[in-house]
Amino acid sequence: MKKKLMSAILAGVLTMAMLAGCGTAAGTTVEDGDKSETEELAEDPAEEAGEEETAGGGKIGVAMPTKDLQRWNQDGTNMEAELLAAGYEVDLQYASNEIATQVSQIENMINSGCELLVIASIDGDSLGTVLELAKEKSIPVIAYDRLIMNSDAVSYYATFDNYMVGTKQGEYLRDQLDLDNADGPFNIELVTGDPGDNNARYFFGGAMDVLQPYIDAGKLVVKSGQTSFETVATANWASEASQSRMDAIISANYADGTKLDAVLCSNDSTALGVVNSLEANYTGEWPVITGQDCDVANVKNMIDGKQAMSIFKDTRTLATKVVEMVDAIMQGGEAPVNDTITYNNGTGVIPSYLCEPIFADKDNYVELLIDSGYYTEDQLK
Ligand code: BGC
Repeated sequence: MKKKLMSAILAGVLTMAMLAGCGTAAGTTVEDGDKSETEELAEDPAEEAGEEETAGGGKIGVAMPTKDLQRWNQDGTNMEAELLAAGYEVDLQYASNEIATQVSQIENMINSGCELLVIASIDGDSLGTVLELAKEKSIPVIAYDRLIMNSDAVSYYATFDNYMVGTKQGEYLRDQLDLDNADGPFNIELVTGDPGDNNARYFFGGAMDVLQPYIDAGKLVVKSGQTSFETVATANWASEASQSRMDAIISANYADGTKLDAVLCSNDSTALGVVNSLEANYTGEWPVITGQDCDVANVKNMIDGKQAMSIFKDTRTLATKVVEMVDAIMQGGEAPVNDTITYNNGTGVIPSYLCEPIFADKDNYVELLIDSGYYTEDQLK
């Protein structure tokens, strides 16, 4: 409720700010972001005439974590294109996975007149201080894909259903290994993502809610013994890190020809590292490997049988939804949400919009990824 109230107040302030911007052509920078709203309102002819504000206008800051991973490039490009098409000016920044860089980019956005921030954080816990500044200036913040923790400056969260991503991965492994019928036991290893990314715990938690009973029953065996979130996490989601961890696991547990039946990988960058490691070190029958994002390299691996599945998170859908949210807020309304219980960032539940993640494998990728125009056939050759 506290959030709702805050959003309503923010929305009110923003309506005034938007009305003040009526005379500004869409796509141009609001240069006098520090001017008081009263001052601006008095100058606004549309407001005086009681005319209705239309969508668009104003500068939106979009902070993305890194260009290193394919998905964030797509997210950034889609967001920018859709915001521009809706009439906004866009300040899009990537931070090379460096927290300090992201903090200073956000600070610049705030100081250069951005009226709303869309942020995919590198470390969900590191933005509290800079977002205090946003709050002071009544700049609403939408956490994009990754929840920003312990900051009451966050107005909304837009993401894919992260827990569902994990359960889909777990269910896939359960079904592929036929855990309910086959005798087993089957050997599995677990790889998840960055501990500073709140999503990682949801992915891992969702998958483990499916897999843990089989581990408890002895049907699934984690030979490395590494099962806690901390031991299976991958700093920065880096392929190199998951590769070297898998190198060590293989040499300690599977070098003697022991079969590795499955590897739970929470996303595609970690899956890529695991595949690289297996190709270099493992001689047994190829395990079932999961992933997430449908990155080009991983879809190619799916076609080649090196990665069994991925989760398709259509970044176009998320961008469209976030632009809808931006528009609603910029027009003084409330953003559309479909979840008001799941994501508590430590200051309260953040109203969220969860898009649905879709299962992808070699049997449906053509329809899902090529026919939908997400990739061209050539990109996957
Ligand atoms: C995203 C995933 C992505 C991972 C690594 C997560 O927060 O939800 O789609 O694979 O970060 O960038």
